[in-house]
Amino acid sequence: MSENSPSSEYFSDVAGLFNPESLPEHVAIIMDGNGRWAQNRGKQRVEGHKAGADTMRTILKACGQWGIKYLTVYAFSTENWKRPQAEVDALMLLLETYLQSEADELEREGVRLATIGDISKLPRRTRDSLASVKARLNNGTGVTLTLALNYGGRDEIIRAVRSLAGAVLSGELAVVDISEELLAGKLDTAGVPDPDLLIRTAGEMRLSNFMLWQVSYSEFYSTAVCWPDFDRREFALALGEYQKRTRKFGDLAK
Ligand code: IPE
Ligand code: IPE
Ligand code: MG
Repeated sequence: MSENSPSSEYFSDVAGLFNPESLPEHVAIIMDGNGRWAQNRGKQRVEGHKAGADTMRTILKACGQWGIKYLTVYAFSTENWKRPQAEVDALMLLLETYLQSEADELEREGVRLATIGDISKLPRRTRDSLASVKARLNNGTGVTLTLALNYGGRDEIIRAVRSLAGAVLSGELAVVDISEELLAGKLDTAGVPDPDLLIRTAGEMRLSNFMLWQVSYSEFYSTAVCWPDFDRREFALALGEYQKRTRKFGDLAK
């Protein structure tokens, strides 16, 4: 029996919630509601972020078991610097702790690690942790986990446009040759298929500057559940809902 067989143990707790044979290739998640989850429990916001990191583990593991190849998560936006310094510091520290404590397990699971966003603006220690864990996971053949860090869709497009403009100025590129493919190839997500499914937790109905270019035809799923409470079952429900959609890409239904 293959590992991805619907009757495998990996699917027993979510049996009937989705069809294991037609899963999305790329799931992107706006992990929202950590603060509200904490507040509802009389805890500090940082406790919500810690609980959110545990959810990340759960969902990444489910992707590996269920055969979802790409998981991209919004961890820190270009706008999140507006938060109190103590919360920003706590988030960066949490990321470093997560990378260090998870590296062995991620390697065992064959996870590859990528980032999108301008990570040059992250604290030195965070960048060092990222670089070392990325290098360590370089040979993974399982899920590609992409962390969006100091990520903003507008910032990403601006950086790509600057790069193309530079090529035009130096005479390497003609303006008429600027195409969707060429621009997409300059984005941080170059080489990665666009998300099939975009999930946002905690009930908000907005993109908050996430993957503006790439989600043009992603199926959007919103749930009221806060990120720390999003579990395998909630993920399975989202996948089931995705499978009910008819994706037309502007064409007529096939
Ligand atoms: C998402 O949870 C995590 C980050 C943005 C880093 P929030 O911290 O935004 O939680 P809420 O929206 O305040 O509940
Ligand atoms: C989006 O959530 C960013 C991340 C999940 C990292 P926010 O909580 O920052 O978004 P807004 O402020 O509610 O739009
Ligand atoms: Mg939020």
